[in-house]
Formats: sequence, C-alpha cells, structure tokens
Amino acid sequence: MTSITPRLDALLNTESFQALAQERLSTLAFDYYRSGAWGEWTLQANVDAWKEISLLPRSLVDVSRRNLSCELFGMRLPFPLLIAPTAMQCMADAQGEVATARAAANAGVPMVLSSLSTRSIEDVVNASSADVVMQIYISSDRGFTKSLAQRAQSAGCKALMVTVDTPVWGVRERDIHNGFCVPEGMSIVNLQRPGQPTGHSGSGIGAALGWTIDASLTWKDLDVIRQAVNIPVMVKGILRADDAERAFDHGAAAVVVSNHGGRQLDGAAPTARALPAIVERVAGRGPIIVDGGIRRGVDIVRALALGANAVQVGRPILWGLAAGGEAGVARVLQILFQEFDIAMALSGCAELSAVTADLICPSP
Ligand code: FNR
Ligand code: LAC
Repeated sequence: MTSITPRLDALLNTESFQALAQERLSTLAFDYYRSGAWGEWTLQANVDAWKEISLLPRSLVDVSRRNLSCELFGMRLPFPLLIAPTAMQCMADAQGEVATARAAANAGVPMVLSSLSTRSIEDVVNASSADVVMQIYISSDRGFTKSLAQRAQSAGCKALMVTVDTPVWGVRERDIHNGFCVPEGMSIVNLQRPGQPTGHSGSGIGAALGWTIDASLTWKDLDVIRQAVNIPVMVKGILRADDAERAFDHGAAAVVVSNHGGRQLDGAAPTARALPAIVERVAGRGPIIVDGGIRRGVDIVRALALGANAVQVGRPILWGLAAGGEAGVARVLQILFQEFDIAMALSGCAELSAVTADLICPSP
C-alpha cells in the first residue's frame, strides 16, 4: 500500500475529502469537478436515492471469513468497484491521472481513463500495474476515434468504455459563470490534432470541448468502434432497459448504468431508481455496472442488492487526488473498501453472491 500520511488517515469518509479538496482547489477546478447540469437536481438525487434504500441484514451468519473479490473480463477486482473516468485530473494534482493510476494499482482496483485526460494513455498504462480501461467519446472524426481506440488497445488497456450520454454537453452553469476552459499549461493530450481548438478559451465545457463529441451518433457507430478492436467494449450512460438490451444486441460486453454524475440531462432519473428495470431486462447477458452518488461502502451493498455486478466512483476519487495526490486516492479507496467490508459483515454476507434482493426492505 502507498504510505498514508497521518493527516489523510484522520479523514474518515469521502465527504471529509470533499471539504479538504475544496480548500485546496481553485474555484474554477472545484466547480468543474462538483458541478451538475442546470439546477443540479439529478446530481443530488443520485446521492439521495441510495440513502432511500433500507437494508434488512441477516442475523447469525458466519461472516468471519469474507471474500469480496470478483472478476470482470479477466480483470481481478479486490471488491466490486472501478474508478470512473473523470476528465482533466492535472487540475487536481501535478501528476494527474498517473497519480490515480498508481494508487489504483496499489489497491488492485481497475481505473477507467477519460479520453479527456491530461496525461497520455501510455504514461498512465506504463505508470502502474493497474488494469486500465479506456473511456472513449466518439467524435465527428470517426477515423480519429477508431485510431484512438486501437492506440488504447496497443498501449495495453484491458477494455474500452464508450460513453453514449453526450450527444451535446449538459449545461453546467457554474462553469459558464467561471468562464471554464482548460487551464494554460495543460492539454487534452490524447485528442490533440493539428488545427483543432485546444480548449484554452471558452465559457463552459461546451465552448471548451465541443469538438470532442458528435450529436449525430447512433447505435451503428458503436459497431464501428467494436469492430476496430478485439478487447471488450462496454457502453456507459444507459438509463433505460430497452437501451441496455440494444447495447448487448450490438455486442457490448457490459453496460454502465449512469447519468454522467448528473452532468448531462438534469431531470434524468437517479441511477439507483433506473437500475432495477435494467436488471430485470438484461441480467445474465453481461455485467451491469452502476455509477452516480456512491459515497459509502454500504452504497455498494445497496447496488449489488439491486442487481448490479459492480459500481464506479467518480468525484470521491477527484477529492482524494486534490486532497493528497496518490496517497489521497489510496486513502479514499481504502475507506470505501473498509466500509464495504464492514457493511457486508453487518449485512450477514460473507460473499458477493449472498447479496440478494431480499436484503432490501420493501418500501411501504
Ligand atoms: C465525469 N464523468 C465522465 N464520464 C465519461 O465518460 N468521460 C469523462 O471524461 C467524464 N468526465 C467527468 C468529469 C468530472 C469532473 C465528473 C464529476 C464526471 C462521469 C463519470 O464517469 C461518472 O459517470 C460520474 O462521475 C459518477 O458519479 P459520481 O461518482 O461522481 O457521483
Ligand atoms: C464532463 C465530461 C468531460 O462531464 O465528461 O465534464
């Protein structure tokens, strides 16, 4: 394990990391990380919806030996959690995504690298022994996107995660207010092409990074990416059962139930509410991963009880990175692991398969 400084050790939960991150970051960076779209209803609802799920722990089960690990396409996870892709981590720490990858590797947790990262795919993959998954936005230049996918595969990424909830960027009012742009001295390194805007000017993510996405995307574009590589391709940003089904029909290896952390359609369902219908429709066709508002280890138990196979966390990792670089991310992962371990024991579950739907208290 990365050595953890006493100061970080004293932080007991991910909320405390957010408070320290706020002290350390510029308003521009903190607001970019924390923002949701428009009135931030979905952002808040994501967190609240997990809390609305009450558990019915089993009594007198031998939980003295717990096995929390699982497997995803040959990746071994110490517990069912991945680091969600979040853009521009050099705003939080000088080493940016490389620091996150090192902490992930020490914990054995897979990291999903944003295609809008500020460190190169190769730097991140080479920095650590972590399993790295590459997140992809399909831009209007399909040839470029295809070669990016192939580059990720050659670099050693274990899978791709294509994000499909960004036909256009959601409107984050704090970013517009702050005139958000990519800070000078940083760049979206993997997407640089001659003649392309750099993102150093603009007001909000739409102005800064509009060229990285494409409003004309449809399911056939997913096929193009899938056929360009021979590593598994997951689809991220699904909220509907019919779309989850379509994703598997188009060869997705997994679906990620996500509303982009409340940053796209404000008013979109919180993921804990969207998950059950998706599980009902596609369980058994491939792994179902969920993200949005997971802040405690017990939220992972809740997600598994609803039928997810694993979760992702976004902002808590950024708070760890801003608060303490690699050691901060290590501590956040440690907290989530320990909370999950204790929540499993207290729920009477010694292994993941014991987390079944009957652990959820029916609502009145
Ligand atoms: C994101 N997210 C995201 N998703 C993606 O597919 N590609 C990306 O580049 C980014 N970038 C990004 C930046 C920031 C600052 C945030 C907060 C989020 C969405 C992310 O992968 C994930 O879906 C959410 O962050 C999950 O919600 P929580 O855990 O942050 O509540
Ligand atoms: C965001 C993009 C980069 O949410 O996914 O800011």
